[in-house]
Formats: sequence, C-alpha cells, structure tokens
Amino acid sequence: MKDNLKILDVRGLWVHLCSGKKQIPLLRDVSLSLEPGEILGVVGQSGAGKTMLARSLAGLLSPPARVTAGKIRYGGKLLDGAEPAAWNSLRGRGIFVMFQSAVQALNPSLTVGRQLSEAVAVGRKPGPGQRQKAGPGQGRKADVDPVRELLGVVGLSPDLAGRYPFEISGGMKQRIQVATALALRPGVLIADEPTTGLDPVNQEVILGLLSALNRDFGTALIFVSHDIRAVACISRKMLVMEQGRVVEAGYSDQVVASPRSAGARHLVDNMIRLEEGICP
Ligand SMILES: Nc1ncnc2c1ncn2[C@@H]1O[C@H](COP(=O)(O)OP(=O)(O)OP(=O)(O)O)[C@@H](O)[C@H]1O
Ligand SMILES: [Mg+2]
Repeated sequence: MKDNLKILDVRGLWVHLCSGKKQIPLLRDVSLSLEPGEILGVVGQSGAGKTMLARSLAGLLSPPARVTAGKIRYGGKLLDGAEPAAWNSLRGRGIFVMFQSAVQALNPSLTVGRQLSEAVAVGRKPGPGQRQKAGPGQGRKADVDPVRELLGVVGLSPDLAGRYPFEISGGMKQRIQVATALALRPGVLIADEPTTGLDPVNQEVILGLLSALNRDFGTALIFVSHDIRAVACISRKMLVMEQGRVVEAGYSDQVVASPRSAGARHLVDNMIRLEEGICP
C-alpha cells in the first residue's frame, strides 16, 4: 500500500527520558502503520512502553520524556517536531485517545453533560480523517437532545449528564469516553487499556462499542492492552512490545497460537492460566 493511503505511519520512533546529560530510552525504534478503518492491537507486559507509545502518537508526552528520533505521519502529514498548535488541531477529530487512567480521562470540574455537549459541538465541524456519515449526537432534530442520545447509545442513564466525573464509576467513565469518541468520530482512536479493571459485562460492552465505532464510522483503532485475549478478539493484527521495542508483529490468531517472543509467550501463558481457572 502506498504511504499516502495510510492514516497513521510511524517510522523508527525513539523516545528518551532526558534529564541533564542522561538519556534513558523508553521507546526504541518503533515502527507501525495503520490504514483508514484498520484495527491494530498493541500488547505487552506492564512497563513494556505501551502507554508511552500511545502518548507519543497523540503528541502528549510530557517532559522529561520526548521524541528523539523517528517520523510520525497522520494522513501523510509529518507530525514529529510539530508545534503544539498542530497537535491541538489534530487531537479530538483526527486522533482521539481513550486514557488508561480514569483521572486523565475526563475534566473533573465539568459535568458529564457539559463534556459531551462540547464534543458534539466539535464533532459537527468538518475535520480531518472521518467519513461524513452522521453519528449519534450529530442529528439536528430539535426534539433530540444529543447528550441524552449519546448516553443512551453507550447504555447509560440520561441522568448521568448532571453528574461530575468523581460521582461515577470506572466503567461509566470508560463508556463516557466512548460516547465522546462517538460524538467526534475521529480518524484514529487510540484506546489505552480500555477494558482493564472492568467487570466482564462492561468489558464486553466497551469492546462492542469500539467495534461499532470502527465499523460504522471507519475510525481506525489502536487497541492497547496487556490482555492479549481481548486484543485478539477485536484486532486482526497485533504488535508485541517488550522493553520499549516491538519484538513481534503479525496476525493476532497466529501470535496467540504460536507466540515467538518471550513477551507474547508470557501473555499467552497467563491467558491460558486464567482460562483454566488456575490462580498464579
Ligand atoms: N513519567 C515517567 N517518568 C519516568 N519514567 C516513566 C514515566 N512514565 C513511564 N515511565 C517508564 O516508561 C516505561 C514504559 O512505561 P509505560 O507506562 O509506557 O508502560 P506500559 O506498557 O503502558 O505498562 P502498563 O501495562 O503497566 O500500563 C516504564 O519503564 C516506566 O517506568
Ligand atoms: Mg500503560
């Protein structure tokens, strides 16, 4: 496939923790590419660098961590070294991140309804990378409240609109992040551990909603998790990370059936232990 048909293309990305003269590598020579509407899984044990990668791809690294080499292109446009304004205009409708930490996910001082209505307003403007099909919350009928509609689509009560983030559960916060993504219909959604810590029912709901976002609006997904089973459910291809490197890449079913790297073997062994009900 030609480079210009990729929505996201990352070549030789290095991220270092830079303090004084010391530079500690956090991401080492990571490359990946994503076609519009594709789903890519990123798996790895804790500390493998998955969140660092997610943050780098959205221009959200905070000092002393910074990109030291490599190229990131969104829709063919070079982004590494881009000014904050360029990243700001891309985030949201271009690249949307579902954060691993619920604390980072939602603005603590705004009600859920206010946050969703802001997303609806942004989603109505033309933006990069998404199909034009209207989604939930995008209807212009006067009698439909877009926030109530979005809450309904993610299986939440409309009464939640008046609550603040500290008044709702972790599973609800994840659903609200998905509702925000549905309002924005981004070109690329990076979901960092979207199902971790949720009960099985909520896990299934979130996986279903992310699949629907991908299927209905052509949003490309990067699904980041240490849960190789959840990743294999949703993505045809996956990358395995270990110590900031990509150590294996391939079709998810093949990686799960015959893992080649130590990192993938460890995740698959854990999955089998869980399936057999053997506590570590
Ligand atoms: N703010 C920071 N300052 C220094 N080191 C950091 C910082 N954040 C992460 N690291 C280090 O970067 C490495 C990668 O961390 P990262 O959070 O990306 O791992 P992860 O794969 O997302 O793990 P998890 O599955 O636990 O979320 C780790 O060695 C971690 O200690
Ligand atoms: Mg992480």
